[in-house]
Amino acid sequence: MRYIIGVDLGTSGTKTVLFDEKGRQVAQALEEYPLLQPRNGWAEQEPETWWHAAASTIRMVLKKSGVDPAHVAGLGLSGQMHGLVMLDRDGIVLRPAILWCDGRTAEECQEIHEKIGRERLIALTGNPALTGFTAGKILWVRRHEPENYERCSQILLPKDYVRYRLTGEYAIDAGDASGTNLLDLRSRDWSDEILRGLDIPRELLPKVYESCDVVGQITAAAAEETGLKPGTPVVCGSGDNASAAVGTGVVREGLSFTTLGTSGVVYAHSRMPHIDTTGRIHSFCAAVPGEYALMSCTLAAGLSLRWFKNTFCVEEEKKALEEGIDPYVLLDRMAAEVPVGSNRLLYLPYLMGERSPILDEKSRGVFFGLSAIHTKADLLRSVMEGVSYSQRACFEVFGELGVHPQKMLACGGGGSSRLWRQMLADNYGCEIGTVENKEGPALGAALMAAVGTGIFPDLPTACESVIREKDHERPDLEAKAKYDRFFAVYQSLYPALKDCFAALNEIE
Ligand code: XUL
Repeated sequence: MRYIIGVDLGTSGTKTVLFDEKGRQVAQALEEYPLLQPRNGWAEQEPETWWHAAASTIRMVLKKSGVDPAHVAGLGLSGQMHGLVMLDRDGIVLRPAILWCDGRTAEECQEIHEKIGRERLIALTGNPALTGFTAGKILWVRRHEPENYERCSQILLPKDYVRYRLTGEYAIDAGDASGTNLLDLRSRDWSDEILRGLDIPRELLPKVYESCDVVGQITAAAAEETGLKPGTPVVCGSGDNASAAVGTGVVREGLSFTTLGTSGVVYAHSRMPHIDTTGRIHSFCAAVPGEYALMSCTLAAGLSLRWFKNTFCVEEEKKALEEGIDPYVLLDRMAAEVPVGSNRLLYLPYLMGERSPILDEKSRGVFFGLSAIHTKADLLRSVMEGVSYSQRACFEVFGELGVHPQKMLACGGGGSSRLWRQMLADNYGCEIGTVENKEGPALGAALMAAVGTGIFPDLPTACESVIREKDHERPDLEAKAKYDRFFAVYQSLYPALKDCFAALNEIE
């Protein structure tokens, strides 16, 4: 029997999963790390903590499973998108990575639009300049930390840094590269026009591959740290959303999913690029070579719930520990006791500013309609509902663009909550299924390794053999009618508050 490994470098931690060649999960390990927020709206992490987490979780899955490393056919990586990692010419990290949910680059995004032209940028890359994307971050470092920019000889994205530590090779896949604002979406290579316009040398960027390409082998040094065999093939892998698509089987036109992870994403696979010319939702390359995806991103989906848990639910965490259950299961039960609409309370999930569909890094979270009757449980449910309204607002943009998926699946930590899936079904007004294996991105990355090493001929075939659907939640029409009214109020809140967010942001 051969085995494959998927490493998913997330924002709250790195999860590594070892599967057998039939895609059955054999062992998994997780190592968590903090999100550093040196200023309101900034988000960073130390690449060294990612490497530590990746190496130790690989070691753990090998140990737990007892699998002989010589039987590991290959390894693939999935990772948080857009983060900027800068290395000097010796491959040493120059500064903490600036992450996907960091909103510091509004000025640089404006500069990109001035230099390239907003419409031209969207036409070439599929997206406007967004604060979370990588190009603005490169310009920010050039402006604010010229000494780091001068010393930089290689730019990587998060999972590509971990792959570099595993193999010594610099590489990126078209999927992750399309989240940098620098990739020509159609040719799936860096756009010389944009690089010239922004004065970013091509030599700073890694070569662009497809997700299943083998781009390196485990080095002797990485073998020491991970327990893998030197020479084990490593494929390029992809961003966490493109990987989750593979791990849920969303690899054909008409299929889509909603992830409730740290971020919330509505994702639809498409054979050809679809572009939202207003930029509210993103066009990216998919992990399937030559194909595409349309997706939205709510910055604080699971992040909102984690913030709520960490800030207000110390007692519940203690209780969950005593009962030996996951604290989120306890929170789910609390939220299920509250009626639809959280007793007339709404939550806007803009804790890190917001991307889709409002594109406003100055926005911040809001509880709207607070009353003295409200309890912690009402606030909790309104957080889950607010995240669901945000997914619905994005899902409606897909409809406006004429993208009407035939099937919607749910994944990510929040996707395993039946209550949250039901909220999505009631809001979207369509059935929401899920898949048996919950490790979407890690499974997707492992399947890329399986294709790259010849276990399967291509990703659609791999998905057909491995992925099984289950648990279809149907919309409850009475709940939907109530949600419709709350959603109308939700939709009116951002336009009413837009100027207030900007004014608040001006105060030092
Ligand atoms: C997508 C995005 C997030 C991160 C989170 O554009 O920014 O989904 O990939 O991991």
